Amino acid sequence: MSPTMAVTTETKEENDTPESEYQKGIKHLWENGINRVPKKYILPPCDRPNTEDGVLNHVSEQNLKLPIIDFAELMQGANRSQVLESLANACEQYGFFQLVNHGIPSDVISSMIDVCSRFFELPFEERSKYMSSDMHAPVRYGTSFNQKKDSVFCWRDFLKLMCHPLSDVLPHWPSSPMDLRKLAATYAKETKSLFLMLMEAIVESLGLVGTADEQKKTEEEEEEEEEDILKDFQDGSQLMVANCYPPCPEPNLTLGMPPHSDYGFLTLLLQDEVEGLQIQFQEKWVTVQPIANSFVVNVGDHLEIFSNGKYKSVLHRVSVNPMKPRISVASLHSLPFKSMVRPSPKLINEANPRRFKDTDFATFLDYISSSEPKRKNFLDSRKLLD
Ligand code: OGA
Ligand code: NI
Repeated sequence: MSPTMAVTTETKEENDTPESEYQKGIKHLWENGINRVPKKYILPPCDRPNTEDGVLNHVSEQNLKLPIIDFAELMQGANRSQVLESLANACEQYGFFQLVNHGIPSDVISSMIDVCSRFFELPFEERSKYMSSDMHAPVRYGTSFNQKKDSVFCWRDFLKLMCHPLSDVLPHWPSSPMDLRKLAATYAKETKSLFLMLMEAIVESLGLVGTADEQKKTEEEEEEEEEDILKDFQDGSQLMVANCYPPCPEPNLTLGMPPHSDYGFLTLLLQDEVEGLQIQFQEKWVTVQPIANSFVVNVGDHLEIFSNGKYKSVLHRVSVNPMKPRISVASLHSLPFKSMVRPSPKLINEANPRRFKDTDFATFLDYISSSEPKRKNFLDSRKLLD
């Protein structure tokens, strides 16, 4: 083939790729061989992770060491109040922390990453059986962020698994790889129970337990109320999202995930050893340094609402790299779908008036299916005060 021919073929490929090919996802494109980022994935210059000449565009050169919360220490009791204070600081100042010594066996974690990688390695025909645009589907395979709405696509495919009630959704989960249901169900149960214990600590760190406001309520009534929300979480919603980010030949032109905040109370994020997660911190994008066998935990929109703005649901995004594929699994937890999320009455007073309207999942799901949920649009739409 002459060099001229090669150039022609390449240009032709770029122009002739039909939209339906992009809908099949980035892994599919990547498997067919690409050495440039297709137009569909090129962000406008102001949204790119770096400027083209390599000058860092509000990206900090230093990786960020998130506050570390030692879960074992939190549960032991002796230092609980100290750890609760660190937890409160982390949720207020970063909206993120790394959870170590969380007690989930390392084989449960490595098996989850492994089985998700194997799912993304299945032939496209197998993966595509689970494609659906129904937000309520118990299993949803797809690409980009909001596939139907995104004008520029991002460099990510995903598998979303609803986890509650587990016995109802399990038969809908992928039957291949054969061990996916078993491994993912174990992982879902472990992260759920970790979430419940974390929420107990979060509720306590907000000063909602044990510091009875005697003028309003007896201690007993107060504990009852807090137990209620903790009880509600037991029957709460859980969504697991396995993310697959193939290597990208020109990582400065695109993102694995655009800036967004998560909707629930807490997200427990498991990442492999490849960095990529960036969070907004002091007006800059900073890359989170992965720690083996830990979870990155972040405050979601619902917890920002519940805490009446005290704990922050912080924008984050994912950058891609030219060398290594990256897999992550996010587990998003909230109240049951039918519950209202509202600021805790005890966190509203004259000095700190109510900041958010009551909200529910239906409103949220309507919102994300009707607009691009980039940036903090949803939370902004629930705001009463700035
Ligand atoms: C998410 C998310 C980050 C990552 O799934 O909501 O922010 O590192 N993931 O994959
Ligand atoms: Ni997220």
